[in-house]
Amino acid sequence: MNQQSGIFITVEGSDGAGKGSNIEFIRDWFESRSRAVVLTREPGGTLLGENIRDLLLSKNSAPVSPMAELLLMFAARSQHIEEVIQPAVSEGRVVISDRFTDASFAYQGGGRGLTLTKIEQLKTLVQAELQPDLTLLLDVSVNVGLSRVVNRGESDRFDAETIDFKTRVRESYLQLAKNEPDRIVNINADRTLASVQQEIKIVLEARFSDAISST
Ligand code: TYD
Repeated sequence: MNQQSGIFITVEGSDGAGKGSNIEFIRDWFESRSRAVVLTREPGGTLLGENIRDLLLSKNSAPVSPMAELLLMFAARSQHIEEVIQPAVSEGRVVISDRFTDASFAYQGGGRGLTLTKIEQLKTLVQAELQPDLTLLLDVSVNVGLSRVVNRGESDRFDAETIDFKTRVRESYLQLAKNEPDRIVNINADRTLASVQQEIKIVLEARFSDAISST
């Protein structure tokens, strides 16, 4: 019985929230404590998922209805859970996913206007008992997020959405965090990377120091 328990962490936030740099920070935190880390992302993380990602993110894609978009997100997620997340967690690894089901509530629910009931049904079907141990919501105001995406230079089908859409996405994320305060930690990501990472470090120490030192 010397295998460590797996840990599943998801990182969410509007585009331009700084997920990439902060995910690297979380990975380093666990690796410096000798934990094996798997970094992955949604939509994506598997060959099928990456193909679905290309379909969904391309600005030249065929028209996609909100329901088709939702179903494709969950198709990619189903493969991702079965092929990557579940096996890695069972082997005692730390899985850090750049986005997961909360993004479907925020973008397809808040952004596109699909009902939460429909998304809940798919969540039950696809996710079953699996829940992230921790979700970090990097909350960025719409203007700051937009300016970071513009500076990055490349944009996808979601980056090209209206300010109203992005505002609804952000509000949905904040609502999700209010509904599940134990799982979702809301972090103000308008600040400098250093301040954000200082807060993330405090959250990781509070949640996972025991899981690390007990083995
Ligand atoms: P992301 O990897 O954050 O893109 P980037 O690296 O370009 O910032 O996410 C891709 C996009 O997919 C993002 O705009 C949000 C969207 N998305 C959904 O709409 N629903 C979902 O369920 C997921 C996982 C992502």
